[in-house]
Amino acid sequence: MKQQWKARKTVAMYESDMAQSGLKRVLGKWSLTALGVGSVIGAGIFVMTGLAAKDFAGPALAISFIIAGMGCAFAGLCYAEFASIIPVEGSAYAYSFATVGELFAWIIGWDLILEYSMASSTVAVGWSGYFLKLLGLFQVHLPLWLTNDLYTAKMLLRDAAENGTMAELTAQYSSVHLPTIFGLPIAINLPAIAICAIITYILLRGIKEAASTNLLIVIIKVGVVLFVIIAGAFYIDPSNWDPFIPARGLNSQGIMAYGYAGIMAGAAYVFFAYIGFDAVSTQAGEARNPRKDVPFGLLMSLFICTVLYISVSLVVTGMVKYTDMDVKAPLAAAFSDYGLNIAVWLISIAAVAGLTSVLLVQMLAQSRLFLAMAKDGLLSRKIFAELHPRTRVPYRGTAIVGVAVAITAGFIPIETIAKLVNIGTLFAFVMVSIAVMVMRQREPNVKRPFKVPYLYIIAPLSILFNLGMMVSLGWENWARLFLWLAIGMVVYFVYSRKHSIMRNVGN
Ligand code: ALA
Repeated sequence: MKQQWKARKTVAMYESDMAQSGLKRVLGKWSLTALGVGSVIGAGIFVMTGLAAKDFAGPALAISFIIAGMGCAFAGLCYAEFASIIPVEGSAYAYSFATVGELFAWIIGWDLILEYSMASSTVAVGWSGYFLKLLGLFQVHLPLWLTNDLYTAKMLLRDAAENGTMAELTAQYSSVHLPTIFGLPIAINLPAIAICAIITYILLRGIKEAASTNLLIVIIKVGVVLFVIIAGAFYIDPSNWDPFIPARGLNSQGIMAYGYAGIMAGAAYVFFAYIGFDAVSTQAGEARNPRKDVPFGLLMSLFICTVLYISVSLVVTGMVKYTDMDVKAPLAAAFSDYGLNIAVWLISIAAVAGLTSVLLVQMLAQSRLFLAMAKDGLLSRKIFAELHPRTRVPYRGTAIVGVAVAITAGFIPIETIAKLVNIGTLFAFVMVSIAVMVMRQREPNVKRPFKVPYLYIIAPLSILFNLGMMVSLGWENWARLFLWLAIGMVVYFVYSRKHSIMRNVGN
């Protein structure tokens, strides 16, 4: 009892959980791959590429993508081994429960909320931005107060007033006036809330419907990314790649950047672009043949995205000098510089569709993670683990995730939270890489349909790469991570510990 915090859930317990799972097993290996790609390609490539090239790495952004991709690939192999041993929806949370014990599992589960929910909020806000851009192409404009949270709305007004760009701001919105209630100004990002509501509705209808909606979007998104690579290749001016690694110096914000440190900082930043491939592992409970197909889906989606990202970053830095890169919609802007307006339309449509599928999978993953934690008693079973009798979806948890993500996206300025997403996810990757080695030691004979080759080289490399990116994110983000984990500890000791199924197991 005293040792409850380190009580481990055995592989046999997971096998019995799996046998009783009420989820529908409908996903094959390519559906899982599509879920991975759907969850991965989003704001990272459509939005963040611009700032990463302009202010961090220059044309060497492609190397940043390679480094971040390698960190993910090493971690992805470790995820794949675990997913083949314990193919349940809890992902890294479940893997820690089986290896290090309840408390660490809780820490990872709590940490993953940062990845799935906060990333969803960030992406919903990015979606809102691209959606407004698309409406703008149709000459439809909405009021400032209905399309931004209050802080962002005030910042936009202040910057426009200071920089004398009020006319530009006014052209983007049907009104820039902030209405008041009891003398207090109000603003809300309504498109972000609306997309969260739509996604929640789709998820509540059931996993099969969610997977087929996702597949359609993935086809559009990958098609347009391929278009960017192939069409853009004709507009590359190799002189834009020279120097490929700019010498260290001040960037457009007056901060030291570029050189090798800039490549590393760029990697830590564009890491966001890869987030989501691990969401495949949270779908294990709904996979037809999870032990084989989940590792396949994980690694295949990661491979596809890495190739696409390296190609896109080479093309876009070849089309536009990194110093002139647009930071809001870099891919669309690269084509509009050449007067290719049809491409701007296509990219904007794909970005809206693409960000939609990221949201779909991330929110799905969050509700499945809560399901796993609730099954273990660390969260309320009634709220997070009860399945709807017809759709077999954990409907209350799904609805709660929808509301929480919508509120965060609609009302809270997202920039700071977005940085938390990266550090939180990197932390989970490091933990999984450690846990996979612990598992090999503790349970050497357990059946492993997928084994990491050269584990004692690959797992330490994963720790090195992912920890390296965490270090590049700076101390403020470490402080935020610790604060979040501290809140998690309070929840654990006040609620979870007392309700855990491991309470009487001891060790
Ligand atoms: N990888 C996802 C994106 O780039 C989170 O939007």
